[in-house]
Amino acid sequence: MTNAADALVFYGATGDLAHKKTFTALQAMIRHGSLNVPIICVATSDWTKEQLVARARDGIEKFGDGVDKKAFAKMTELMQYVGGGGGEDEMYKNLATVMKPFKQPMYYLAIPPSAFAAVAADLSQYGLAKNARLVIEKPFGIDLLSARKLNVDLHEHFPESAIYRIDHYLGKEATLNMLYFRFANAFLEPIWNRNFVKSIKITMAEDFGVAGRGRFYEEAGAIRDVVQNHMMQVLGLLTMSAPVSGHHEALRDEKVKIFNSIKPLEPEHVVRGQFEGYHDEEGVAKDSQIETFVALKLEIDSWRWAGVPVFIRAGKSLPVTATEVYVEFNRSPQNVFRSMASNPRNAIRFGISPNIEIGINANAKKPGEDMAGENVELLVCDHHDDEMTPYERLLGDALAGDATLFAREDEVESAWAVVNPILGNAVPVHTYKPGTWGPKEAEKIVHGYGPWHNPKESS
Ligand code: BG6
Repeated sequence: MTNAADALVFYGATGDLAHKKTFTALQAMIRHGSLNVPIICVATSDWTKEQLVARARDGIEKFGDGVDKKAFAKMTELMQYVGGGGGEDEMYKNLATVMKPFKQPMYYLAIPPSAFAAVAADLSQYGLAKNARLVIEKPFGIDLLSARKLNVDLHEHFPESAIYRIDHYLGKEATLNMLYFRFANAFLEPIWNRNFVKSIKITMAEDFGVAGRGRFYEEAGAIRDVVQNHMMQVLGLLTMSAPVSGHHEALRDEKVKIFNSIKPLEPEHVVRGQFEGYHDEEGVAKDSQIETFVALKLEIDSWRWAGVPVFIRAGKSLPVTATEVYVEFNRSPQNVFRSMASNPRNAIRFGISPNIEIGINANAKKPGEDMAGENVELLVCDHHDDEMTPYERLLGDALAGDATLFAREDEVESAWAVVNPILGNAVPVHTYKPGTWGPKEAEKIVHGYGPWHNPKESS
């Protein structure tokens, strides 16, 4: 038997994520030939297949790249709908009948996280878990304890090898490009350590607020929403050692090692912020202390990185929408020419979004009589569009049975262990004006290594 799944069972097909992202990804997968198995859409709502197809079309038109007639027709043909109008028991019985011909299905759960464990148990109870794989959305738990519990609950019905935890940052072309650049070039490895690197700065900025997701955000906040998962994954790929092979476990082993060597955060290394006006968002408590911004300093306690601070900053309602990684190097040991003292440090910049860029910053002589320099950036790559959306890549990989770009149980738990001590109100929250780089207190986080690196404006 190949490792490829023979059916895609899609939970939450009537939901928001499906509308905004998943149907677009499925259409693209069909266009590119990576999806050719039945798509069984499951939802507790009492819809018809026609209604669901109309919803998929609307989502692709509004949020995706437009309807591709041929691929959409094929998707419609592959789609079936199993609804829950008559209650859960009836839904599962119907699903069990529909699933009879399939030997290795993939269940994709685009549903509220509180339902993950219950659905896994139901699938098992109705005899649907055998040989199946489970693809689950974020967030995986709300802290270390709940993530551990969820892992235990899921493992009662599915082995770890059958569980694929989605972090869409792992499916981004830019993130993979960063990983490739690191290990496809011999010149980088000798300098990729505490002997040469001064600091690492990562900024994930969004120029919009919580965009109607106030209720969700109240339970998350920036640390849970993007730091524990997306930022940690980017950091893992940036700092891990070379995996012993391209096998998925080898890559994940190295990431776990890095996560395990990061010291759990202490409150004095964290500044939380909340943009003015957050309280007026729908679903937000008037006295909410949830952070829409965070700036923090991490320390990696490893032979390679000891003493190199990692600064992470993420927030909503900032001046731009852009995510960048900035690796700054030590200065040259001697100022041979006087002007060199004021030169910026060498740096490597990874643009994660909106553009996929890798830039090497260096100082070169300005033409003319003086030995004076200018800072130039050599663009190693500059791509403006990601041919494949993260969802297309990740769902395609999960269907094919390749777990490389999914978070393993120990990865998720280690990442939670880093942020666990600063969850809740361990750190006070400062307000900031929308359109600024967060509260001024964030500057103290980079003390001695400042300023923060502001990513480039979206283009
Ligand atoms: C999601 C968060 O996981 O990632 C959102 O819940 C955030 O709050 C989004 O806006 C950012 O993703 P991207 O791919 O647009 O950078």
